[in-house]
Amino acid sequence: MEYKLAIIGFGNVGQGFAEILRDHGPRLLEQFGVRYTIVGVSDTLKGSVHDAAGLDPSDLIDAVRLSGNLDGVDVPDRGWDGAEMARLSSADIVIELSYTDLETGEPATGHIRAALEAGKHVVTSNKGPVALHYAELAAMARERGLEIGVEGTVMSGTPTVLTGMHLLRAAGIKRVQGILNGTCNYILTRMEEGSTYEDALDEAQKKGYAEADPAGDVEGFDAAGKVVILANLLMGVPIGMDDVDRTGISGLTPADIAEAREAGERWKLIGTLEPADGGVLASVRPERVPLSHPLASVGGATNAVTYSTELLGDVTLVGPGAGRIETGYSILVDLLEIHRTAPRAGR
Ligand code: HSE
Repeated sequence: MEYKLAIIGFGNVGQGFAEILRDHGPRLLEQFGVRYTIVGVSDTLKGSVHDAAGLDPSDLIDAVRLSGNLDGVDVPDRGWDGAEMARLSSADIVIELSYTDLETGEPATGHIRAALEAGKHVVTSNKGPVALHYAELAAMARERGLEIGVEGTVMSGTPTVLTGMHLLRAAGIKRVQGILNGTCNYILTRMEEGSTYEDALDEAQKKGYAEADPAGDVEGFDAAGKVVILANLLMGVPIGMDDVDRTGISGLTPADIAEAREAGERWKLIGTLEPADGGVLASVRPERVPLSHPLASVGGATNAVTYSTELLGDVTLVGPGAGRIETGYSILVDLLEIHRTAPRAGR
């Protein structure tokens, strides 16, 4: 079966996903019987291309690598903005990967509404629309018999959201605790190794972990967005960003790091959801944990989440939390989930 895809936002994740299709397309066809064809890409900086007959992922990746834009890709249709790509493209599934805005959720939310109104499934790793508008978007999708895949919004391709929503829900998730921001964990790890805060942040940006505006990472907004997503999707508690008691890592000094080390402890930015008075208490804050704590050994951009459940006790997932291929993989997982649950979606 063939699925046609339109990608909105062709930064690290979009290109990582295109690389996965370029390098693993034949295996996906053999393993799952699916062919994913990119028909459109729209990016505010790199330009916009559409060809209903399909675009070669190699051409897209090479164009961006060589010239920084998509101008040299030969196509019948070009110049569509994100909303136009969502509406007009010949895609079955729109992949929304524009930049994250955790205050307004735009422009991504508008792109997703446009895609659903046009009868297209949506896959996104963009935290803005999911943290701020998931209930509305999920209802829109449901009314139309469409799917929204959001696996990559938390811990990139490490299977956190679908595992929690489908495989652990019956176990009764009571409490969630995790290291949910790769950039902060990378910075804290590098500072322990002697790097300065500035150098470590610079490295995290170069490695593609950090948000376009890294304040979203270091001030804890990104982790708070993930806590909100997990509360809404896994625990069914409709909290918003303002409900998270949030502190970032920008106030931590080399002296704080050294002091923790001398005490046999380590700083981690920890997101927590725990029951309180019929609702949940949600927080993101730097915490000093003993080296024996299960989260203490999670270093670099690696993330971890512990789901405390009624029937299984603690279940901990550890894996990549950011990165182009790692997040690109989450897109593939959501696409295959659509193939599994909505088998008539392609053609
Ligand atoms: N900036 C995020 C992080 C990317 O560092 O974890 C993945 O959401």
